[in-house]
Amino acid sequence: MKKVLLRVDFNVPLKNGKIADDFRVRASLPTIVYWLKKGAQVFLIAHLEENGNAPHLNEARSLLEGLLGLRVGFVQGKLPPKPLEFAERVVLFDNIRLNPGEKACDLSFAKTLAAWGDYYVNDAFSASHRKHASIVLLPELLPHEAGFLFEKETENLSKFFKPDHPFLFILGGKKFETKEPLISRFLTSADAIFVGGALGNTFLSNKGYRVGSSPVEDVQISRYVLTNRRVLLPEDAVLLRGKKKKIVSLIPTSNIEHGDLIYDAGPQTIKTLADLAKKAKFVLWNGTLGVCEKGFTYGTKALAEELGKSKAFKVVGGGDTVAAIRKFKLEKNFDFISTGGGAMLEFLAKGTLPGIAALSGEPRLWREALKKK
Ligand code: 3PG
Repeated sequence: MKKVLLRVDFNVPLKNGKIADDFRVRASLPTIVYWLKKGAQVFLIAHLEENGNAPHLNEARSLLEGLLGLRVGFVQGKLPPKPLEFAERVVLFDNIRLNPGEKACDLSFAKTLAAWGDYYVNDAFSASHRKHASIVLLPELLPHEAGFLFEKETENLSKFFKPDHPFLFILGGKKFETKEPLISRFLTSADAIFVGGALGNTFLSNKGYRVGSSPVEDVQISRYVLTNRRVLLPEDAVLLRGKKKKIVSLIPTSNIEHGDLIYDAGPQTIKTLADLAKKAKFVLWNGTLGVCEKGFTYGTKALAEELGKSKAFKVVGGGDTVAAIRKFKLEKNFDFISTGGGAMLEFLAKGTLPGIAALSGEPRLWREALKKK
């Protein structure tokens, strides 16, 4: 029986140690089932990280057993030095990040892992921006291919490299440094780039608008970007003034008081985005418009609802954004929901990922080992 090492991404949100959203696990099922139907024994490699800790994957194992209706073998703890035999057709390695060699991209660790299988499949697009052993070294050690989810991700996201117009790009959330390369890349191909969320506050403040006491990142945004007519910023906001929620127009700036906290986009901003979305042929969205975890969900939900009325090809991604859309049960409003967070951003900015480059290469070390036999 062929043994397939299948890299999946089970980096799911946890609540009190329980899996709070099984989206990524479900998204891996088609590739797992495909290899089972082909008669393979499937060894799943996955990671999970929460606040710098690497929890065990027992929960993911139980979830998987329920979803597949099969018993799933489990390699508890660190990877043993030699492969073990399992009767189960699906076997899950415990959190691969329990092994320091994974993040260190250590070749001898990768060789120990590769010894478990004859073939490698990467279906963890959303972890493929990491130069980790199970992502970039296994393809050198084993013949390989990409899984279905991986292919769907690259196929759908690549469409934005040659978008139909008008193309509306919506960016929210935080972390300027991860989103700035996207703004540079899409400034010429997008017809409008809306910047909202915490990122929007950083832009507003750089432009000289008042944002009260809202947190902003200490970055210098170029004048070229700030004054570009394609870059749109929120027109109004839901803010917290003392303990009161208020909807306030951002112009005139005197509307904003010291101590105000801008936590969400307001209705006029959503209306502008809805009008643009109605005319758009392509819409790409990453990052929430408000602080959803503090209950400021209005902008994110209203935008997801408005996008449902647009006939554009619509793709959304980013961990918090997708979690919010799933909570609102508005998945149907999108043509594709990316499992990627950082990987989606990096792929869009660079057109490739370390995991993609690794899959495109030959299994060089595997061939060398064969020659020696
Ligand atoms: C993700 O959640 O974006 C991927 O699983 C990568 O996780 P990481 O940021 O812990 O490497």
